[in-house]
Amino acid sequence: MEIKEYLQSKKEIVEKALLRFAPPEESTYASLFAAMRYSLFAGGKRIRPILCLAGGVCVHGTEEIETALLPSACALECIHTYSLIHDDLPAMDNDDLRRGKPTNHKVFGEAPAILAGDGLLTWAFDLLGDSTLSTLEAKKQLAITHCIARAAGPFGMVGGQALDIAMEDTDFPFSTLQTIHRAKTGALITAAVRAGAIGAGASEKQLTALTSFGEKIGLAFQIVDDLLNATSTTEQLGKAAGSDAENGKATYPACFGIDKTREMAEETVAEAKAAITAFGSSADPLRGLADYIYLRTK
Ligand code: IPE
Ligand code: IPE
Ligand code: MG
Ligand code: MG
Repeated sequence: MEIKEYLQSKKEIVEKALLRFAPPEESTYASLFAAMRYSLFAGGKRIRPILCLAGGVCVHGTEEIETALLPSACALECIHTYSLIHDDLPAMDNDDLRRGKPTNHKVFGEAPAILAGDGLLTWAFDLLGDSTLSTLEAKKQLAITHCIARAAGPFGMVGGQALDIAMEDTDFPFSTLQTIHRAKTGALITAAVRAGAIGAGASEKQLTALTSFGEKIGLAFQIVDDLLNATSTTEQLGKAAGSDAENGKATYPACFGIDKTREMAEETVAEAKAAITAFGSSADPLRGLADYIYLRTK
């Protein structure tokens, strides 16, 4: 199957599940839920939940594992969406456009946007902890929950976001730039692959290989994000192009220029694929996703 068709079919599965699991429209907290749903259904690519499903299929060998992974996959998307709502706030990157639509705080106001993010983050752990939603063994579900919490929290995404903000308009070494990218973006992407693999019962050896794969595509994902920010248009991206330079962010293109950055992204994706050569055709979706991360245009 072509990667485009694969992505489209998995996106539909994830979105159906998100609709099933998402907070209801009618409630005492209807305005909070409306703000949460606005960003959750604004048209994201759903890469993290799809990586979770693909990580599971890689280890399990068939797509039968996907249903059991859907609550975890949706939790990853809730956490990712919360991170974008907060990332766009005036106190953070101060962006007006996300996923081709006005950012959450532009529509609902800053306090409701902060709460919509809080709601999505906490909702994710509701999904992860709800034993009525998944058929996975409790031990596996607990391991997935810990894996995702670790990646999303202060040792992962939140830590990376804190460094990203602290380092604006400062000079810092390349190693710090890599640390930021690995933490703010790479950690959750790695957790997505690992969560699927854990749910499918991966051995230590398999998990090590898939962790390495996840770390490399996670880094490549943010390198390409930097590249697109510097080379694409706001219309194409659905978010502000050129904003990294305006905000004084250190990025790969700022350090190495466009051509070298493109090479580095391609090399990182090649390294990712090299980490999973031991798997057979069950890893093909992951290989396709790795290529997509390099070739994506939004
Ligand atoms: C954007 O992530 C933010 C980063 C971590 C680089 P995505 O490019 O996956 O955003 P959506 O979900 O498709 O909008
Ligand atoms: C986003 O990084 C990372 C997280 C939200 C965790 P950026 O700030 O570089 O991403 P965009 O360009 O706003 O999507
Ligand atoms: Mg940011
Ligand atoms: Mg941003």
